Amino acid sequence: MKNKFLVIHGPNLALLGEREVSVYGSFTLNEINEQLNGLARQLNVELEIVQLDGEGEIVEKIGKARKQFQAIIINPGAYTHYSVAIRDAVAAVALPTVEVHLSNIYAREEFRHKSMIAPVAVGQISGFGVNSYLLGLKAAVDLLKTK
Ligand code: DQA
Repeated sequence: MKNKFLVIHGPNLALLGEREVSVYGSFTLNEINEQLNGLARQLNVELEIVQLDGEGEIVEKIGKARKQFQAIIINPGAYTHYSVAIRDAVAAVALPTVEVHLSNIYAREEFRHKSMIAPVAVGQISGFGVNSYLLGLKAAVDLLKTK
C-alpha cells in the first residue's frame, strides 16, 4: 500500500496569489497543490491536502490523522507563533511532522521568529516559497524510507 501524507495549509493561505505577493509569491494555493500532487505521483505516494482557517479545525484534523496517514506536512500560518493547541495535537498524534513556511520567518518581524510547532516537528523548512512544500514532502517521504 502507498504511504499517505496529510498536507495542511493553515489560515489565510487560501488567499495566496493575491495576498502580500512580495512576501509569499504569486502562486495560488491551487497551483501549489498541483505541484505537490505532481511530486507525489513521481514519488509514488498519496496525498490528502486541506486548507483550514480555524485552529480547532486543524487540531481536529491532526487528531484524526493517526490511523489514516504516515506523516504530516503543515504550514500552520500565524498559528505557528502561538498555538499551544496545534503543538499539543502534533505531539499527541506522534506522526512525523514537517513544518513548512513559504517565507523565511526568521528574516521577518520578531513575533514570527518563534515557532511553537518546531520543537515537536521532525524539522522545519522556511523561506523557499512553493519549494518549501515540495522539499517538505520529499523530506517526509525520505524519512519513512529510513525508518
Ligand atoms: C507563513 C508565515 C507566518 O508567519 C504567516 O502568519 C503566514 C504564512 C509562511 O508560509 O511564510 O500566514 O506560515
